[in-house]
Amino acid sequence: MPLLIRNADIIEVDSRQHGDIYVEDETITRIGTNLDAPPGTETIDATGKLVFPGFIDPHVHIYLPFMATFAKDTHQTGSIAALVGGTTTFIEMCCPSRLDDALDGYHLWKSKAEGHSACDYSFHMAVTKFEQQTEGQLREIVKDGIASFKIFLAYKNFFGVDDAEMYQTLQLARKLGVIVTAHCENAELVARLQERLVADGKTGPEWHEPSRPESVEAEGTNRFAVFLETLGTAGYVVHLSCAKALERAVAAKSRGVRLWVETVLPHLMLDKTYAERPGVEGMKHVMSPPLRDPANHEVLWDALQTGAIDTVATDHCPFDTSQKLLGQNSFTQIPNGIPGIEERVNLLYTYGVKRGHLDLHRFVDAASTRAAKLFGLFPRKGAIAIGSDADLVIYDPDYRGAISAATQHSNCDYSGFEGMEIEGRPSIVTVRGRIQVRDGKFVGERGRGRLLKREPMYF
Ligand code: URP
Ligand code: ZN
Ligand code: ZN
Repeated sequence: MPLLIRNADIIEVDSRQHGDIYVEDETITRIGTNLDAPPGTETIDATGKLVFPGFIDPHVHIYLPFMATFAKDTHQTGSIAALVGGTTTFIEMCCPSRLDDALDGYHLWKSKAEGHSACDYSFHMAVTKFEQQTEGQLREIVKDGIASFKIFLAYKNFFGVDDAEMYQTLQLARKLGVIVTAHCENAELVARLQERLVADGKTGPEWHEPSRPESVEAEGTNRFAVFLETLGTAGYVVHLSCAKALERAVAAKSRGVRLWVETVLPHLMLDKTYAERPGVEGMKHVMSPPLRDPANHEVLWDALQTGAIDTVATDHCPFDTSQKLLGQNSFTQIPNGIPGIEERVNLLYTYGVKRGHLDLHRFVDAASTRAAKLFGLFPRKGAIAIGSDADLVIYDPDYRGAISAATQHSNCDYSGFEGMEIEGRPSIVTVRGRIQVRDGKFVGERGRGRLLKREPMYF
């Protein structure tokens, strides 16, 4: 059924216009004023609402075997949580470990998502080792529409690559025109610091941050940037957490390295005192890079507004309370990760836009359009334009509520953002023209999501 959104306050990166949006099949076909529509068209009056392009979360974990367990969401629960929060597309990290075969891993991740995700999705393909067959396998995966890789400089012996493997991955990515996303922490330093702290009896979650201090992330960020510079590859630092690492990234950008930067919701909203809470409360806030000194917040918000930080993702990675307790005897065993796929847009709107850290256009850019451009989805995604997919978020800025695990859709028994107030939420969310969410409720088609094929563009 066609869809007509009347009286829309349409917010894009470079413009704000009032008008109507007409959707046929899956696509926006007309934008204008007083548009007519054939009988049978569903009409939505968006008076008083803001209309955004569907939001894109460029860094999530849905299926994830990690740290002796599995992240809790399925593609059904994770995608419904995404949609209720206004995210219509996510890019999931496809992460086979060093013990696994990359191509088998890719097919496994695809099979987990296909027919189960309610929103559209793609993958960043993790390269967790570089062997004889790796190049051929990665070429096949890129041909299948995956135009970005992921490397971990952390997580020694599990996901982590050494410098030689990073070099080979970046070299191949350069040839293929693929962008490489990277978790930037020095694996060796983390392992040594963990060993030393545990030997000293420092085993609680409050020691997670000291085991991977800011300098360890700054080193990883700088090393990644220097490798990119040497090879001419395009790169993207994921979940950057602190001023020290940002300095290295900004320095690289200003010498012309093709580098983009992501921060994530926890690093904007939370700080290391959350992980210092006693017992499991602290464990719930263990992620890597760790939550930092709160002095970093202002630096990150400012960099986000100027565009020095390009995007805001979640690094959604839900492990529940019982899984977090795997680390009760040592912080090194706490499954790393904090959920957030449902909260990103509302928290960014409330604590970014409403608190004056972020203007409305940069908000759209950081949470949607820039990721679409960087990862080969634009203008199909990240835009309200004729010919774009009709992924729309009709946003109610008058809504008032609070984050609570009791009402979230992610399959996790806690929220890292429990009790935080929100000033706004999606009223209607569409995926390719189909209404999937109304006022906090999933009302759509499970399994509607499609794998988005992307073309390499970094030649
Ligand atoms: O702690 C985190 N970030 N968990 C997910 C894995 C990763 O490093 O992205
Ligand atoms: Zn990571
Ligand atoms: Zn991650």
